[in-house]
Amino acid sequence: MDTYARYPVEFVRGAGTRLWDDEGNEYLDFLCGISVSLLGHCHPAVVEAVRDQSGRLIHVGNLFHTEPPRRLAERLSELSLGGKVFLANSGAEAIECALKLARKRRGGGEFVVLERGFHGRTYGALSATPQEAKQAPFAPLVPGFRAVAPDDPEALYAAVDGSTAAVVVEAVQGEGGIHPLESGLLEAARAACDEHGALLICDEIQCGLGRTGELWGFEHAGIEPDVMTLAKGLGGGLPIGACVAGPAVSGVLQPGDHGSTFGGGPVVAAAANAVLDALEDARPGVKAKGERLRLGLEGLGLEVRGIGLMLAFRTGDGPGLVARALEEQRLVLNATGPDTVRLLPPLNVADEDLDEAVSRIGALL
Ligand SMILES: Cc1ncc(COP(=O)(O)O)c(C=O)c1O
Repeated sequence: MDTYARYPVEFVRGAGTRLWDDEGNEYLDFLCGISVSLLGHCHPAVVEAVRDQSGRLIHVGNLFHTEPPRRLAERLSELSLGGKVFLANSGAEAIECALKLARKRRGGGEFVVLERGFHGRTYGALSATPQEAKQAPFAPLVPGFRAVAPDDPEALYAAVDGSTAAVVVEAVQGEGGIHPLESGLLEAARAACDEHGALLICDEIQCGLGRTGELWGFEHAGIEPDVMTLAKGLGGGLPIGACVAGPAVSGVLQPGDHGSTFGGGPVVAAAANAVLDALEDARPGVKAKGERLRLGLEGLGLEVRGIGLMLAFRTGDGPGLVARALEEQRLVLNATGPDTVRLLPPLNVADEDLDEAVSRIGALL
């Protein structure tokens, strides 16, 4: 279907920060499949884990135990909220799990979400994504979603009451244009949820897994959610989603409530375990690398937003600049809207590549 406006480039190979097209041209990738190739293309440990697991067992389904997803769930739980994990195949599916958990727990209830937020394209996730252009053609949506301004902690606090099932937020709004949440917003969300017995769901699908320098985006606000969602970079390029529920709510979903044929298959789970191993080495460098990239871009006179290696700059014609970057500079970037260009390089990007990207952007400008 015509669901994507693709660039006229066909990629055939990738390694680290580099991609090669079918004519042998080399590109510098500062998008990483929108933060999916978190540790660069074809990270050797991920390739090895996939090779090894796919030679032993590819699929048996969720009626049986297998070791890679069990280990992955234990690790994710230990690294975040404690509690339990549901493994799915995508970000939107991780969100669906979180929404279903929250409604079952409250026996119904409403969701409070943020304007400019993005949580995916399935009906529940789309209903949590209050953007007219994305929602309108598909009405009626799932009922019971209420959007508040992302820069108004008091409005958020006031929007939560005893009928709220959950507040759903991204600590750094990614698709909305790399906007770190207003200071005090996550704290207000936490306080409101505590007061009214609602759940705080943090969508860490784009800002989690070390992207902002901390392992989780919510750490910057010093709060902890009740539930969090992961996807994108977790599988090292393979499709995966995860919904982590803290101990107080990890028993809400029971056998028969939710499921997925492919979710948490052994191959993608083995890849994710390799990603978590490699992330331990890469994450300590993220803050300094992010600062180097930010300073480089600011040195070009650009207005930069974001945290860690989740950055964006303002420009007159984002899509035009991105198309020229690809064609003239062989640099892969992305526009989140008409005036914003987003950079999501791998977390283990070399300093020379950061400088090289800045110099290519400088040449374009
Ligand atoms: C914060 C956030 N949530 C959810 C999603 C949806 O993930 P997926 O495309 O894997 O369904 C995305 C994808 O961009 C995202 O950035």
